[in-house]
Amino acid sequence: MLEVRNLSKHFPIRGGILGKEVGRVQAVDDVSFTIKRGETLGLVGESGCGKTTLGRTLLRLIEPSAGSILFEGRDITQLNASAMRAMRRKMQIIFQDPYASLNPRMTVESILTEPLKIHQLCHTKSAYKKRLQELLDYVQLPREALNKYPHEFSGGQRQRICIARALAVYPEFIVCDESVSALDVSIQAQVINLLMDLQKELKLYYFEVMGNE
Ligand SMILES: Nc1ncnc2c1ncn2[C@@H]1O[C@H](COP(=O)(O)OP(=O)(O)O)[C@@H](O)[C@H]1O
Ligand SMILES: [Mg+2]
Repeated sequence: MLEVRNLSKHFPIRGGILGKEVGRVQAVDDVSFTIKRGETLGLVGESGCGKTTLGRTLLRLIEPSAGSILFEGRDITQLNASAMRAMRRKMQIIFQDPYASLNPRMTVESILTEPLKIHQLCHTKSAYKKRLQELLDYVQLPREALNKYPHEFSGGQRQRICIARALAVYPEFIVCDESVSALDVSIQAQVINLLMDLQKELKLYYFEVMGNE
């Protein structure tokens, strides 16, 4: 379960040659909510209203200005860097633009192997192979995908690669930041259905933000 209490994030606006703070953007202002395992909390809002800032702050990719974020009962805003790294394995994010978030020079195999290595989740060659196959199966990509580069895929397939990468580390909580808004409308429903199926199968919980332009 994730419990957010009185979360705020403001960005300073600096001006003049001394770069003094001359104002503030209050991107997230005193937000509180709870998300339970297996649930999705959706947030809809216009561009610039603070959705991305809130989503990234939940994972402390952006440091909050105030408030607390309780993940499984622990306030993660108080964790030091190494405790936070371990916690982040359980909290993943899927970005709006699948192309920008994939390294164009890495094959799908290296993209998916990287998080497994970082978190030391596989110890033998056959364990890697098995886990890669499992990840491809989750997102319904063929085995041949492993040797290809991001530009060889369609937008929907690229987002599937991002989803597989997020799943690699056995996350529990996933932030979906307008994960389908860059895709063709005909593809959006497929990716949304995939995320919903995965939620059931893996008992994930989501914080999902959507634009409403
Ligand atoms: N790193 C930053 N520095 C300063 N202002 C920022 C930064 N990131 C976002 N903002 C501002 O915070 C507000 C919310 O942005 P954002 O969270 O990206 O909104 P959304 O995702 O809903 O479009 C905007 O006014 C934006 O300009
Ligand atoms: Mg955004």
